[in-house]
Amino acid sequence: METLINVQSHLKYEETGRFSAMADGLSGSEILKIASEIRAMAAQGHKMCNLTVGDFSPTEFRIPLFLEEAIHRHYQNGQTNYPPFEGVTELRSAIRKFYIDRFQLDYPEKSIIVCGGARPIIYSLFRTVVSRGDKVVFPTPSWNNHYYTHMVGANGIPIQCRAENAFLPTRDLLKDHVKDARLITLNSPLNPTGTAFTREALEGICDLVLEENRSREGKQRPLYLLFDQIYWMLTFGKTTHFNPVSLRPELAPYVIFVDGISKAFAATGVRVGWSVGPDDIIQRMSAMLTHVGAWAPRAEQMGAADLLMQPAVIEDYHKTMKTGLETRLDLLHKGISDLERLGFPVMSIVPMGAIYLTARFNLIGKKNPNGGIFTTNEEIRKYLLNEAQFGVVHFQAFGYEGDTGWFRLSVGAVSIKDIEAALPRVKAALEKIK
Ligand SMILES: Cc1ncc(COP(=O)(O)O)c(C=O)c1O
Repeated sequence: METLINVQSHLKYEETGRFSAMADGLSGSEILKIASEIRAMAAQGHKMCNLTVGDFSPTEFRIPLFLEEAIHRHYQNGQTNYPPFEGVTELRSAIRKFYIDRFQLDYPEKSIIVCGGARPIIYSLFRTVVSRGDKVVFPTPSWNNHYYTHMVGANGIPIQCRAENAFLPTRDLLKDHVKDARLITLNSPLNPTGTAFTREALEGICDLVLEENRSREGKQRPLYLLFDQIYWMLTFGKTTHFNPVSLRPELAPYVIFVDGISKAFAATGVRVGWSVGPDDIIQRMSAMLTHVGAWAPRAEQMGAADLLMQPAVIEDYHKTMKTGLETRLDLLHKGISDLERLGFPVMSIVPMGAIYLTARFNLIGKKNPNGGIFTTNEEIRKYLLNEAQFGVVHFQAFGYEGDTGWFRLSVGAVSIKDIEAALPRVKAALEKIK
């Protein structure tokens, strides 16, 4: 018998410099760290209200049955080989039709690529247009821009947004930073706030990008706009989703859309995302991704194509899904507003879209029951977690500076009962604070 090598005993990392400078400087996801802390508490038998992960629990939000059955069928029909590197024709033509129907935007199919979710799209766009040292402007709070910026060695310029603008960037906030910038990244509805651009606010930024590109007169490399609209199908109440190209068609050479089924169809684990944009950029992104192999599996692509071609199925699904999300968000918003009315230093912003509520637990400087004073958001987060089993994520995890008491509450993985049970616990925890 051959001797078994105990590899573990050889895995001793004594040398330094085992990683590239990029990997060395890349910190892990703060949100995932918080989520694993909560999983550990749940494993000890604590009844949690886990509002931390930007994901869905399949027991609360399942993917459309139509999609599930279509994917099964495509596997049964042998759709298991490599997909074409730009995505299967069926899905690219379904996306084309979808953008015509929903946005009246007719892009050619060579302007569309499909990937294993939205992340590879974002990464490949950064890689395709941003060189080392280029200036990338991104608002905060926002999702993961600081990581992508780091990975390509860009000069990231975070722009801190304000509560009075629903934490969204404005033309005024951005205007002093576009000179020499290579890329601006926007997301609406926004992760982490669940707020969305108004037409006027987005038009203001579109005009700024147009003016900047005109002023470069082809002598300077252009300024691009990454427009992440992964949550666009999830808007509530009177909120309407706007996009830069419908508002300003002249922007088309500079706008790259990030989109997919992950959030709109509670399909985060199915891994189908896409990008629509100027075909020269899209083709380069696609060529780069060929070497990474971050394709969506073929059967999933075919299933997504079938779904996008069924407006009635989508409408039906969204009726139920959006009611489920809105009920949870409204319950939290109402619960926090009730606490505010009772005089507690808390508030939240009316939910507009996505799966998030923005809430403020303004406890900095207040005395906690252990005799200490809250000085950081992290202390507030831990207090809410330990005292009320209420798991939330502070805005610093989204690049937002300062201990200002703002948090993201994500509702895709909690039940209505979880929220109803948690609100009295939060009240009791707040009552102990002086
Ligand atoms: C704004 C935003 N863009 C992109 C993504 C990534 O989506 P995917 O799971 O399809 O990679 C997320 C995921 O949380 C997100 O919040």
